[in-house]
Amino acid sequence: MSGESNTKPNPTHIGVIMDGNGRWAKQRGHSRPRGHKEGAKATRAIIDACQELGIRYLTLYAFSAENWNRPDIEVKALMELLELFLNRETKTLIKKRVRLHAIGRIDELPDRARKALKKAIDATAEFDDWHLTLALNYSSRNEVLDAAKAFAQAITDGKISPNTLDWGDFSKHLYTAELPDPDLIIRTSGETRISNFLLMQSAYAEFYFTETLWPDFGKEQLQEAIACYRNRERRFGKTGEQIATQSPA
Ligand code: IPE
Ligand code: IPE
Ligand code: MG
Repeated sequence: MSGESNTKPNPTHIGVIMDGNGRWAKQRGHSRPRGHKEGAKATRAIIDACQELGIRYLTLYAFSAENWNRPDIEVKALMELLELFLNRETKTLIKKRVRLHAIGRIDELPDRARKALKKAIDATAEFDDWHLTLALNYSSRNEVLDAAKAFAQAITDGKISPNTLDWGDFSKHLYTAELPDPDLIIRTSGETRISNFLLMQSAYAEFYFTETLWPDFGKEQLQEAIACYRNRERRFGKTGEQIATQSPA
């Protein structure tokens, strides 16, 4: 790696597509829910690692809107695990001053999981230094639809004019209105697709794909991903020469 990479900033916001729990379990002859349980351990570790490495915003893809199409028994196990995770982790989040957010169609989650989520969100609402966002029943396309509906309503109510619409206005209606765009998106398990995660917000994100399965992903792997990110040149439409002469932000 070039010495130059050390001068480039860390990502402010990392998004993670936590994939590979099922394959991790299969390789060991375990059930898929057992893989998700191990995945939850990796999730805990990554939240800690982000804090240790100074990453203020972490967004984790935990359950997609398409994941409802899995067998009922797996969906049930995932929802129970979510509830357990929230009930167990809230104290730690408070202790570490991490604010919890959720993105997705949260009102469609089972009651118990939704209540545990609300409780954790409320209990951490005062914090601002560290932000953990769980994408649950999340789909970028649903997010855009929901934003378009809210936007149309604001026009009907005379609160906004469609003629002056810009991205700043529109993005206020996305679930992520309070969050900066992700700088780095990591996907584990060797799949190189985005699976409906933060499509709009990742317009200028860097992508990092690793073969590591989610339960095996830890601080060391996160550091590798960050080192790779810091070695990239983000141009935002400009030329490499412009970027080279630009004074650091
Ligand atoms: C990711 O692991 C967890 C969720 C999608 C909820 P998977 O369950 O997708 O694991 P694989 O892809 O089957 O290995
Ligand atoms: C994406 O993983 C969703 C989560 C990690 C929660 P999937 O395993 O559901 O994605 P596909 O179906 O392989 O694209
Ligand atoms: Mg998968």
